[in-house]
Amino acid sequence: MPYYQDDYKIEENDTSNSSCFDIQVYCPEIANAAKAGQFVHIQCEGKILRRPISICEIDKKAGTIRLVFDIRGDGTRWLSKQEEGAFLNILGPLGNGFNLNETAKKALFVGGGMGVPPLLEAAKAFKGKADAILGFKCIDNSMLIDDFNDVCSKVIVMSDDGSLGEKGFVTSLLCDRITKNKYDVVYSCGPTAMLKSVSEITLENNIACFVSMEERMACGVGACLVCACKVKENDKEAYKHVCKDGPVFNAKEIVW
Ligand SMILES: Cc1cc2nc3c(=O)[nH]c(=O)nc-3n(C[C@H](O)[C@H](O)[C@H](O)COP(=O)(O)OP(=O)(O)OC[C@H]3O[C@@H](n4cnc5c(N)ncnc54)[C@H](O)[C@@H]3O)c2cc1C
Ligand code: FES
Repeated sequence: MPYYQDDYKIEENDTSNSSCFDIQVYCPEIANAAKAGQFVHIQCEGKILRRPISICEIDKKAGTIRLVFDIRGDGTRWLSKQEEGAFLNILGPLGNGFNLNETAKKALFVGGGMGVPPLLEAAKAFKGKADAILGFKCIDNSMLIDDFNDVCSKVIVMSDDGSLGEKGFVTSLLCDRITKNKYDVVYSCGPTAMLKSVSEITLENNIACFVSMEERMACGVGACLVCACKVKENDKEAYKHVCKDGPVFNAKEIVW
């Protein structure tokens, strides 16, 4: 897959949601090549290593991508301060993205926290037929709920502390939803513990499941081994690069 690196302009910086940062970047060649579930690697001032951020939405016509992120450390703090008109040095699109060849299937998207943004573009491909379960720590960490409501048939929102939607983890509802609704496929992104549970539940119920892993990264293009992830390959254990072979994997492949 081709990827590009250049300085690209922030066209919009939406500060209306206090719990996350939401920017549109004008990068026509990246937007044109990008697929749902891929990510970009951003140079943040003072950092040797780039910071990976998922592509939340792609507008090929306008030549823009949408990035939604929260502050974890210095890199994302610097990123959050970049205003409209500023230029970001971006490498991308990177990774494999979701395989969306079978959008006639009944799909469920399961996102947790910062794992929610990469699912939006994929959910759009199902043209209003997919459902979603979105989980957040609390109301202050919630994001993209209106966006998912716009593109999904049913959206269930959950929070760990009950301050928004139903109280509990996304996995506490998953079993019930998949037995009642007979989904063909589950797409998920979120913390590793959540992905492991989603993977176990879908496997037990014989439902295809694709997970997007968010390992820490360095080069982002398969040249180091920082993002190594243990997988099963021909009944043997092996390592794959999350940045290059993923971030999306068939959940059956992962050795949790
Ligand atoms: C493929 C991929 C897609 C991502 N997409 C998004 C996104 O759309 N929005 C978003 O907000 N974040 C996303 N992340 C996470 C984001 O890259 C990190 O939050 C960011 O790199 C932290 O950089 P920093 O300099 O701000 O913090 P650092 O100082 O590097 O780290 C601060 C803290 O965050 C932890 N941390 C850093 N990276 C990760 C990670 N990957 N997983 C878990 N903990 C981590 C560190 O251990 C440390 O405790 C993604 C990560 C990956 C690998
Ligand atoms: S981050 Fe270097 S190989 Fe993946």
